[in-house]
Amino acid sequence: MRVIATTTQSKAASSLTEEFCDFLGETGIKFVPRKGKSLEKLKREHNADGVIVWKDTGPVLYIDENVEFFYHPSMAKNRISNYRKFGTFDPLIKAFDLREDDEVLDCTLGLGSDAVVASYFAPRGRVVGLEYSMVAAALVKWGMKMYKSPMQWLNQAIKRIEVLNEDYRVYLKKLADNSFDIVYFDPMFRKPVLRSQPISPLRFLANPEPVDRESIKEAVRVARKRVVMKEIFSSGEFARLGFEKICGNPNNKIAYGVIEKKGI
Ligand SMILES: C[S@@+](CC[C@H](N)C(=O)[O-])C[C@H]1O[C@@H](n2cnc3c(N)ncnc32)[C@H](O)[C@@H]1O
Repeated sequence: MRVIATTTQSKAASSLTEEFCDFLGETGIKFVPRKGKSLEKLKREHNADGVIVWKDTGPVLYIDENVEFFYHPSMAKNRISNYRKFGTFDPLIKAFDLREDDEVLDCTLGLGSDAVVASYFAPRGRVVGLEYSMVAAALVKWGMKMYKSPMQWLNQAIKRIEVLNEDYRVYLKKLADNSFDIVYFDPMFRKPVLRSQPISPLRFLANPEPVDRESIKEAVRVARKRVVMKEIFSSGEFARLGFEKICGNPNNKIAYGVIEKKGI
């Protein structure tokens, strides 16, 4: 996807913040002065598919009038709040069997909801998130950096996450044996779960390819404790990739496959 970056209508190009300059330098995304133009006009003039607008709250990608993408921890906040209010553990944490000091490699960061939930439950550990799409990785990384919640527990969980724009098929091969306690995959589902749901903006950016067997083999080598994958229970993906233990509620379509390292 070809994207350009600009400021809001009210900001002159001379007021580019240090953070915005760092973002542009890091991503190599082309800056285009706004000069009062509409986003559609900028897109047309620069032959771009989307425009990132740098706001005080973080970067927002506009693809068209109906599709915008920016980092927000809404789902993660609800999932952690369920634990804080009712003591209910998120199914992800059960599938991870997560300990406070565990180190987690999330191979499919996406919007980072699972990574934030893992980070909250592993405050003395580490969460590294890999994302294939350069644009999604940049929006989530900088959105996480700039996000401010009145809830300190949420800020702390978000700020601990290390976001890397990497392809897990390449990155896993570079890691030493037993580098992380848990290696996690949440690939794009082969079909969206609910037909009635609006298409997530992530679908415009995400890599839709299924997980390959070689990466699962590498993940097993890299994990100290377990490899976990989220999928639709009936998709056949668990069987194809060698996940024998499945954690999930029979009433729920989504399940977690677990491969435990032997001897643990
Ligand atoms: C379903 S989303 C993950 C959602 C995430 N667990 C969350 O809680 O927001 C899958 C993400 O994995 C990314 N992805 C797919 N293949 C990848 C690869 N080979 N390396 C890194 N990321 C990949 C996609 O681009 C997409 O953003």
